[in-house]
Amino acid sequence: MVDVPTKMQYVNLGSTGLKVSRLCVGCMGFGDPRWMDWVIQEQESVALLGEIYKRGINFFDTANCYSNGQSEIILGKAIKQFNMNRGRLVVATKAAIAVNDDMSFNPAPRDDPNYVNRFGTSRKHLFDAVDASLKRLDLDYIDLYQIHRFDDDIPLEETMRALHDIVQSGKVRYIGASSIPAWKFQKANQIAEKNGWTKFVAMQNLYNLIYREEEREMMPYCADAGVAVIPWSPLGGGVLTRKRDVKTNRAENAKWMEEAFMKAREQKDNDMIVDEVLAIAEKRGVSAAQVALAWNLSKPYVTAPIVGITKIKHLDDLIEGLDLKLTKEEIEALEKNYAPREVMPFNF
Ligand SMILES: NC(=O)c1ccc[n+]([C@@H]2O[C@H](COP(=O)([O-])OP(=O)(O)OC[C@H]3O[C@@H](n4cnc5c(N)ncnc54)[C@H](OP(=O)(O)O)[C@@H]3O)[C@@H](O)[C@H]2O)c1
Repeated sequence: MVDVPTKMQYVNLGSTGLKVSRLCVGCMGFGDPRWMDWVIQEQESVALLGEIYKRGINFFDTANCYSNGQSEIILGKAIKQFNMNRGRLVVATKAAIAVNDDMSFNPAPRDDPNYVNRFGTSRKHLFDAVDASLKRLDLDYIDLYQIHRFDDDIPLEETMRALHDIVQSGKVRYIGASSIPAWKFQKANQIAEKNGWTKFVAMQNLYNLIYREEEREMMPYCADAGVAVIPWSPLGGGVLTRKRDVKTNRAENAKWMEEAFMKAREQKDNDMIVDEVLAIAEKRGVSAAQVALAWNLSKPYVTAPIVGITKIKHLDDLIEGLDLKLTKEEIEALEKNYAPREVMPFNF
């Protein structure tokens, strides 16, 4: 089904033997606009996933909470409809955040009797969540099962043992985690190693030109341990692809994300970084998105950034840019205006 010529490259997921496309396509934008208003609906999403597959992407990231389950359902339908080869695909999903009974975005209240035990990383919830994800995806197994966040009130031993048992059951091939403190991630892997349990092989964390706090602890740990880094929002949710005043369907939401996760001391820090991206793009005759992506890929610890695609022309543009190599001077120019910022919240 690769009938569209593609420059797609494949790399190992960290120190595993699993081959993933150099770009992972995030499925957060597929689902129900009542969840977030820029999200595209089923018919359009399924058709787009077919086009994405044709371009050689084999790595898809979703989560049980995206559009409260709809994103997983859509990915599953696209796999069936386009007869995607399961042996080629790497399907990643996540658990820990509650799947709401309605389409609301807000996390379910923790003390609501209806949601007790329906979120978090307890043995009970992870066992329930993996079965529910498999049902929605309509698959026999998940390639990469990720903890969306870690709960402070659940022992790491319980979570790691539960994940190991899920892998042993055959429902999951590899495990990963998303956006948790580096010390906890490292400790969790130590616990797994000590007990002969399955270890995390991938870290999905926020990493882009306007949020680089992960360079302090998480990236050096992952590089040292051979853990794959698959950054989320490598284009800053779109912030790095355009000037602040350019309006897109998602721009309002990107503003929300920027405020929630990528707080600058002053917003002008981000604007100065975007200006450098745009200047290099213009000089090189490429898109700003290609420059932001090339910066991410220039880091040796980055395995496969998870890009948000709701239009095929965006993916074609990013694939075209896979060969773009930034010079040392360009990287310095892109990085020089970054000032340390508040760490994004690791809870939910
Ligand atoms: N683990 C977590 O906690 C977490 C959190 C968030 C996301 N994620 C994962 O990361 C994935 C990606 O997140 P994201 O959508 O924020 O990533 P992103 O790749 O940083 O942003 C995607 C946005 O960038 C713009 N864009 C993409 N390609 C472009 C191109 N070639 N030219 C111009 N603009 C382009 C589009 O904005 P417009 O639509 O405005 O044009 C698009 O919506 C999600 O789908 C999800 O799988 C994980």
